[in-house]
Parts: sequence; structure tokens; C-alpha cells
Amino acid sequence: MTWLSEFWGYAEATVEPATLRDCPKLAALHAVSFHRGWDEQEFADLISERNTLVHRLRIGRRIIGFVASRIGADEAEILSIAIAPNWRGRRLSRQLLVTHLGHLAGRGVTKVFLEVEENNQPARRLYDGTGFSVVGRRERYYRQPDGAQLNALIMRRDLS
Ligand SMILES: CC(C)(COP(=O)(O)OP(=O)(O)OC[C@H]1O[C@@H](n2cnc3c(N)ncnc32)[C@H](O)[C@@H]1OP(=O)(O)O)[C@@H](O)C(=O)NCCC(=O)NCCS
Repeated sequence: MTWLSEFWGYAEATVEPATLRDCPKLAALHAVSFHRGWDEQEFADLISERNTLVHRLRIGRRIIGFVASRIGADEAEILSIAIAPNWRGRRLSRQLLVTHLGHLAGRGVTKVFLEVEENNQPARRLYDGTGFSVVGRRERYYRQPDGAQLNALIMRRDLS
């Protein structure tokens, strides 16, 4: 029944640890979501390292999102988060991020940081809605393929 429930859109999304077998799919997801993609090896390294945490978002047999962070003492940085283009706009990223933050808290993390491009409205709303606050700004931090330079915001959320 998996394909049928996926077809009708009522299959449940599940957040779970990513595995090495997911690397090709995760690299493909990253490539369609960002200008500079991470290759399969970069995901393999992230999944294998002890101070990183990578979760996948799965619906049925499809992996439709991921989030990755790096932990240092009681702080963590969200390195990347993405949802497959045709699954965006359904609030799935919130479920993914909130679950991930819960696991970070379980690892003893009390402060989480991330960088977001100032004009990335879906991401800004995601982070605003999950308790992150702007704590810094980096001018012309991101360089676009067309040469445009965009500002980055640094955001922070405390976990209790
Ligand atoms: C950012 C991203 C992960 C959000 O995933 P998503 O599951 O589509 O997010 P949601 O459906 O929960 O939407 C997040 C918020 O953005 C809003 N939003 C969605 N698309 C939007 C758009 N085109 N313009 C403005 N706001 C938008 C939603 O209304 C929601 O806000 P709300 O909760 O206040 O209503 C997804 O857009 C993505 O993968 N983008 C490419 C990769 C990326 O930019 N990652 C973040 C790097 S910092």
C-alpha cells in the first residue's frame, strides 16, 4: 500500500538517522537545492564522523529531505537542510528540524547556530518559526554564480 498512500499524499513522513546507503540520494537532493553541491563522499564523511549528526526525511521508500549538523562541546552548527523541490511548502522541514534539534539536545547540545542567506524567505520563516533569533550579519558573504554577493544572517537557538 506504500505507493498508494504516497500517491494520495497521506503517507507519514519519518525522520531517522541517515545511513551510508543514502549518500547518492542525499547528494542528488543537495545538488538540486544549492549552487554548490556536496558529493556522495562528503555525505559519507559526515555520516561517518562522530561529531556530526545527519537525519533523513523519508516518506514510504523515498528520501525527500535531510538535515546535517556538526557538534562541538555543547554547541552545534546546522550545516545544511533541504527538502526535495516537489515536496516543499508542506511544512515538512519543520518536522525534520524539530526532531533533529531534539536529538542534538539529547547529545548535550545547548546552543545551536546556523547561517542563512538574508533573502531566503522559506528558510528564514522556518528558522523564525522554530525558535531561532538573528545574532549577527555577514555582508556579501555568499557569492552567486552570476557574481552577485548576498548577505548572511547568523541565527541562534538555545536548547533546554
Ligand atoms: C528551506 C526549506 C528547507 C523549507 O522547506 P519546506 O518544507 O518547503 O518549508 P515549509 O513548507 O515548512 O515552509 C517554511 C516557511 O516558508 C514559507 N514559504 C514557503 N515557500 C515560500 C516562498 N516561496 N516565499 C516565502 N515564504 C515561503 C512557508 O509558508 C513557511 O512559513 P510559515 O511556517 O510561517 O507558514 C526548503 O525550501 C528548501 O529545501 N530550500 C532549498 C535549500 C535551502 O535553502 N535550505 C536552507 C539553507 S539555510
